[in-house]
Amino acid sequence: MTATVPAAPLPYQAAFEKPEDGEAETIHGLIETLEKISHTTFEDTKHGLRGVHAKSHGLLTGEVRVLDHLPPVLAQGLFSKACTYPAVLRLSTVPGDVLDDKVSTPRALAIKLLGVEGERLPGSEGDTTQDFVMVNGPAFGAPDAKHFLKNLKLLASTTDKGESLKKAFSALARGTEKVIEAFGGKSGTVIAMGGHPETNILGETFYSQVPSLYGPYIAKFSIAPTSPALKALTDAPVDLHDRPNGIRDAVNDYFAHNEAQWELRVQLCTDLDAMPIEDASVPWPENKSPFITVAHIHVPRQVAWSEARSAAIDDGMAFSPWHGLAAHRPIGSIMRVRRVVYDTMSKIRARQNKASIAEPTSLPPF
Ligand code: HEM
Repeated sequence: MTATVPAAPLPYQAAFEKPEDGEAETIHGLIETLEKISHTTFEDTKHGLRGVHAKSHGLLTGEVRVLDHLPPVLAQGLFSKACTYPAVLRLSTVPGDVLDDKVSTPRALAIKLLGVEGERLPGSEGDTTQDFVMVNGPAFGAPDAKHFLKNLKLLASTTDKGESLKKAFSALARGTEKVIEAFGGKSGTVIAMGGHPETNILGETFYSQVPSLYGPYIAKFSIAPTSPALKALTDAPVDLHDRPNGIRDAVNDYFAHNEAQWELRVQLCTDLDAMPIEDASVPWPENKSPFITVAHIHVPRQVAWSEARSAAIDDGMAFSPWHGLAAHRPIGSIMRVRRVVYDTMSKIRARQNKASIAEPTSLPPF
């Protein structure tokens, strides 16, 4: 472990959370907008897809090994003792429709740990999973759920608007992004609309972007590549020319020959002004509180994506920050609204697919 554990992480107090006015209406608006996306894609594909993160690029199984002898501050919740959990990983990109990878958008990693014991979150009683749901940037594109609803309505209006238009927009947006980067910033909106650099998804570092409890403390989570073969893929270009599933192909190629190891890290909140809970658009400064490794994720060689895996994981599972332990309760505006939204939307796609979605107790038998 190289980073230093903060001496004084802030203990959580209920007063740190300040529900927004009209949070119930925002939840309603989010579900209405996501249902529109999901209805449009269902009409088009006759398949129930996620309202966002519809396209998967890798569907993996492996294990999460919690480090031995973590200092007491870090030995919380499922990390309280050295333990190995079987895990399912799903790599995806953000849009709610399944696009040609040439429309290059932010990437995501969701991971589900199995066999996790302890007091459960509301709605997750009776299960033994713990999910972490992450995207490849340290902060969310909107400060709170109300602002996110506005962005989502914009994205919803582009669902199913014609691939070639989106590809053209993506190429244009990549140019635009270069201009924005030259001025020292990254435009979340431009990237979300299709201007992400065409790089290998396996080199990415992923972030929860929004906080959860960490036992008595507050933390954000992150997953970063550690094995040399994975690290070599950071910012490595991926060939997407005439390869509509080029990202998925690159992941399959990698896992045909290599295993992978990532580290699962936590960033403890030490200062509410610099590391706000209710403003998800602020990256927590790593010079104030670094990410510290609490577990390693090991994924052996395997077929990384197949129709059978897609049926089992894309269609048969749902990932949500609200699947888990009370010790890791999601907090803040964005997290609060996700509880109902994820549950409602996963039930809709289960109905569309006439499939059941359940929390697994063992790894699927691939
Ligand atoms: C108010 C804010 C948000 C809303 C309304 C929202 C909504 C959703 C919905 C409806 C799904 C699909 C659920 C399903 O059908 O199973 C989803 C999936 C996902 N979301 Fe969010 N989300 C929000 C914020 C975030 C944030 C902050 C992150 C991460 C930093 C994130 C990352 C993901 C990922 C990675 C998936 C795909 C999970 C999988 O592979 O199944 N979302 N989101």
